[in-house]
Amino acid sequence: MKNLNKTKKMILLNPGPVCTSEKVRNSLLKGDMCHRESEFSTLLTNTRKKILQAFTPDGSYTTAIITGSGTASLEAGICSSVSQGKKILIINNGVYGERMSRIASVYKIDKVELKYDWSELPDINQIEETISQDTEIEVVAMVHHETTTGLINPINEAGAVIKKHGRTFFLDSISGLGGEEIDLVNDNVDICICTANKCIQGLPGLSFVLLKNNEVKRMRNIPPRSLYFNVISQLDEQEEKGECPFTPSVHTFYAFEEALDELLKEGVQGRIDRYKKASSYLRQEFKRLNLKLLLQEKLLSNTITALYLPENMTYTRLHDNLKERGFIIYAGQGELNKTIFRIANMGELTMEDLESLIKNLQEVLVE
Ligand SMILES: Cc1ncc(COP(=O)(O)O)c(C=O)c1O
Repeated sequence: MKNLNKTKKMILLNPGPVCTSEKVRNSLLKGDMCHRESEFSTLLTNTRKKILQAFTPDGSYTTAIITGSGTASLEAGICSSVSQGKKILIINNGVYGERMSRIASVYKIDKVELKYDWSELPDINQIEETISQDTEIEVVAMVHHETTTGLINPINEAGAVIKKHGRTFFLDSISGLGGEEIDLVNDNVDICICTANKCIQGLPGLSFVLLKNNEVKRMRNIPPRSLYFNVISQLDEQEEKGECPFTPSVHTFYAFEEALDELLKEGVQGRIDRYKKASSYLRQEFKRLNLKLLLQEKLLSNTITALYLPENMTYTRLHDNLKERGFIIYAGQGELNKTIFRIANMGELTMEDLESLIKNLQEVLVE
């Protein structure tokens, strides 16, 4: 068969979409399928089961898969989980905390926001004080892994405080699940949002909402704010009929199921360990190359390293030189756009890929 893929293979060091296995990519060619036939129901049901098997095997959660990127599921989660007249508390220490705040505003949901510096952890005592003083706060939203900087937020401490006060813990783990230590049950996470194309190593186009069974009961009483992005109606169709209410991205489901099979085979802990090993190697080499990390090491995730641009080096020059050599790095966002760059080690990357990155980076820096 002729190779139809004319795009040069690039080593993606952006935090998703990530490099995927050949099996995942080739699964797109399994064939056309009608989403109202039993074959799709089987695919959907198996994919949902595998998500639950990977992340919440104790049976106390369910999941709805949504066709759309991570933000689609974030929007669905937020607009479906806050009752009329109640508030959401948003913990904001990066671009993605900011995004949740913007979603609440778009849906005209009352919000309280605690803002922190982008390289700083949220203050758990302040979160507790805010919740205890405002009984209207129903949902508390936090980002697990702030992709902006590569910072891991203290979800276990936040979850304990949120549970103590009987509120719902809403977690954006879009760049965390599959790559970072998390135990949804122990961390008291009620609603968790994730996507197929980051640490799960599937293709872009699908995301999902994990919900504690109790949350489903609570959310049933909330009138829908959106037709498409309503978690309960998506969930009911998927659970009861084995269907999606609207046309799903059928072929991407093939790839998602394949990626979940690979994750289950490697083991979630195995994947976390692989990413940890990769980031430790990279960070040790970055230091050798005199590159300075943005964050203190104790705050760092297993998958993203934000680095200051060396003096006399612009992001464009660094990016373009590395791109020519087959590596895609990632710019800083917002206020960090001019000062940092990011290297992610999510996805199907080998140690040889990373060694080759370091060799090329060293050459570009010396040049
Ligand atoms: C933590 C976090 N939340 C939300 C998003 C948005 O996801 P998407 O770009 O898939 O809509 C991202 C994407 O990088 C992310 O890292």
